[in-house]
Amino acid sequence: MATEATTQKKGRFLSDLEQIRQRARTHIEKGAVTGGYKADRDTVVQVLNEALATEIVCVLRYKRHHYMAKGIHSQAVAEEFLEHANEEQGHADRIAERITQLGGAPDFNPKGLASRSHSEYVEGTSLVDMIREDLVAERIAIDSYGEIVRFLGDRDITSRRMMEEILENEEQHADDLNKLLATLDPTKSGNR
Ligand SMILES: [Fe+2]
Ligand SMILES: [Fe+2]
Repeated sequence: MATEATTQKKGRFLSDLEQIRQRARTHIEKGAVTGGYKADRDTVVQVLNEALATEIVCVLRYKRHHYMAKGIHSQAVAEEFLEHANEEQGHADRIAERITQLGGAPDFNPKGLASRSHSEYVEGTSLVDMIREDLVAERIAIDSYGEIVRFLGDRDITSRRMMEEILENEEQHADDLNKLLATLDPTKSGNR
């Protein structure tokens, strides 16, 4: 029944999450053992490109959710999704700018975008589903950006500060979504 479906969905997500986090850690661990500035900088660019992919996927997901929520006349939620989409776009721009400052090339290639991203593109079928998927994606971003901040440490203070600011904004997004979820009772059929 409903609980079984929920468990299956949760199980699928948890296994994906493990893979996503493991991949996010791989480059960071590699960076921690390589010596030399250039090698470190290459790793920083690689890690930032994964954060860039994460942001682009977040823009696309929030845009999709914005138009879908508008379609089901949930204007307030639609507006929140749009605000988040625009802020994710701002994050993507800041990260891309920083990558070029480091002498790297920002990767906007749609090929492989989903696999470079730490968070997923999940369409969601109902308003509550969409909000939940966005919350999951924000929580993944919060975890992986926290790791990126710790990895950057004193290696690259400017990139670290940028990622700390973005992380703070992702926490605000997660908080916004939590509040939205609280206002929409998922047991009410009208919201599903
Ligand atoms: Fe973001
Ligand atoms: Fe976010």
